[in-house]
Amino acid sequence: MERSHYCNEVRETLVGQRVVLCGWVNRRRDHGGVIFVDLRDRTGLVQVVFSPEAHGSVHDAAHQLRSEYVVHLSGEVARRPAETENTKLPTGLIEVRVDRLTILNASQPLPFQLDEEVGEGVRLTHRFLDLRRPVMQRNLMTRHRAMQSMRRTLDEFGFLELETPMLTRSTPEGARDYLVPSRVNPGEFYALPQSPQLFKQLLMISGFDRYFQITRCFRDEDLRADRQPEFTQVDLEMSFVEPDQVIGLVESLVVRLFHEVLGVTLPSPFPRMTYDEAMARYGLDAPDTRIRMELTDLTPLLRETQFKVFAQVAQMTGLRGQQGAIKVLRVPGGAAMTRKEIDTYTEFVSIYGAKGLAYIKINGPWQEGGWQSPIVKFFSETELAAIAAATGVETGDLLFFGADRLKVVNESLGRLRVKVGRDWNRMDDTPFSFAWVTEFPLLEWDEEAKRFSAVHHPFTAPMVEDFANLEGQGGAGVDTVRSQAYDLVLNGSEVGGGSIRIHDPAMQRRMLELLNIGPEEAEEKFGFLLRALEFGAPPHGGLALGMDRLVAMMVGADSIRDVIAFPKTQKAACPLTHAPSVVDAAQLRELHLRTTARPRGE
Ligand code: AMO
Ligand code: AMP
Repeated sequence: MERSHYCNEVRETLVGQRVVLCGWVNRRRDHGGVIFVDLRDRTGLVQVVFSPEAHGSVHDAAHQLRSEYVVHLSGEVARRPAETENTKLPTGLIEVRVDRLTILNASQPLPFQLDEEVGEGVRLTHRFLDLRRPVMQRNLMTRHRAMQSMRRTLDEFGFLELETPMLTRSTPEGARDYLVPSRVNPGEFYALPQSPQLFKQLLMISGFDRYFQITRCFRDEDLRADRQPEFTQVDLEMSFVEPDQVIGLVESLVVRLFHEVLGVTLPSPFPRMTYDEAMARYGLDAPDTRIRMELTDLTPLLRETQFKVFAQVAQMTGLRGQQGAIKVLRVPGGAAMTRKEIDTYTEFVSIYGAKGLAYIKINGPWQEGGWQSPIVKFFSETELAAIAAATGVETGDLLFFGADRLKVVNESLGRLRVKVGRDWNRMDDTPFSFAWVTEFPLLEWDEEAKRFSAVHHPFTAPMVEDFANLEGQGGAGVDTVRSQAYDLVLNGSEVGGGSIRIHDPAMQRRMLELLNIGPEEAEEKFGFLLRALEFGAPPHGGLALGMDRLVAMMVGADSIRDVIAFPKTQKAACPLTHAPSVVDAAQLRELHLRTTARPRGE
């Protein structure tokens, strides 16, 4: 049954030769005796022809063919008559005149046509059919090529591909764990890894120097278009490095990836900015650098303003992010916005906690009363002049104001920048805009839990320059400590994150203490790491690339679900297999479990 060619390989150079093909009936057309079939495999389509005169019995069999039947056939490649050439198809100049046909299997009529737009529920329920669509075939083939490229390059760079356990204990990436009950250890649970973080650090301590793994990670978090409960990382770690070396290496890897898989030459080096700079200019730590608009901080200029809301905000103090701030987004040409559009944006920022969205339409110089806005009457001439100078506004622009705690202002105006930038196309048309964001804060104040949490993870090293601030009694000043953590951002999406790790056991203990993890808990959860650090741990660091996100961007998919063969829904379910599902009482007993929940639909 061996095929001689894939469909898309059948070209003009084979005219006069015999080919053997296997595939699916994409479409069958009856033209008064002559039957045309578009045969499909993962490479594409080729037209095959059954004519009544030439091969009678084969022609009879061809009558039985329906969409999605699987066939094995052979015949001679012939040039198509000129008027029937199809220049849209790579194989459009030829056809295969079939003289042998075996129907390998029939198909029920499809629940949806492969070229039809259908809801994601239907697609996921019949994923095996959905994956037959050429776009999905291309996506998964690109994914394969991306993985192979990464693997080859990392091997060439001297990295060892080593595996780490899937049945392990809770790892500290900050999401909820997926737990697996242990049958032989009653009442005890494994956790599926949120990442191989601690194991890869142990491998450095064991002397493996350069490690990588293409691995699944599991996180029970609220799902969005770019998040799945299980996803794939290209995870790597290196010893004796500083941030620059990890960044440089990952950049080479990504440049090579885009060149090998897409034939795209990325401009390198990628721009780098610190976290502080990213937040100041873009309001987000994963800025979409294609958008040509930036935020401006007006807090010092408006501290004494008559507009009470703003003045109050400008005087609020607090830990990093909790202090008051007034920032403005300048939208070039934005004065053309309608009232309704502005209302929609006001509603949009309220999702991120903004209490309003003041604006000024710049219809002319302020001195001539050209600034149109409900709030402009509150500003003094000095303030108006200062706003004009700080933002560089021109006639035709619009200014959006955010006044709140800095965290809220950054997030709401940061998201607004992306939304307006995309809605009004204020962006460069470069398809791939990479940037590194470095020097993330080490810690973040969690207002609900009333304690600090690690911005990256608890094993990330602080910047040497900021060590002194870690020693403050009761944690005073620790909110200002920067870390040796870096993210790789592509078109406003975080596609990778990593850091240099703490390799000094005393520093690691201090870090856990700052996170309110007492010595006992530290020993219980991370004792194995703390001990390992005491036996000659080399300085080390690394990064993990989110491959689902990266590949989704490479193929231009809107959702990472389009580059994952069998993804889950927003409710972490699989409509194809109906996972998760209830299990037998006997199975639960064996696992020493009893459930108090009533399953779905009961
Ligand atoms: P981090 O948690 O930043 O780092 O994860 C690395 C990258 O993985 C991707 N990612 C996801 N992709 C899809 N669905 C998800 N739920 C999801 N969560 C994360 C992102 C992210 O940048 N151990 C560290 C790495 C290190 O320090 O070396 C880690 O896991 O693209
Ligand atoms: P008000 O005085 O509440 O009528 O608000 C006047 C304008 O300021 C309206 O356009 C509001 O949307 C806007 N506004 C009110 N509070 C804030 C805030 N915290 N940040 C930005 N704009 C605000």
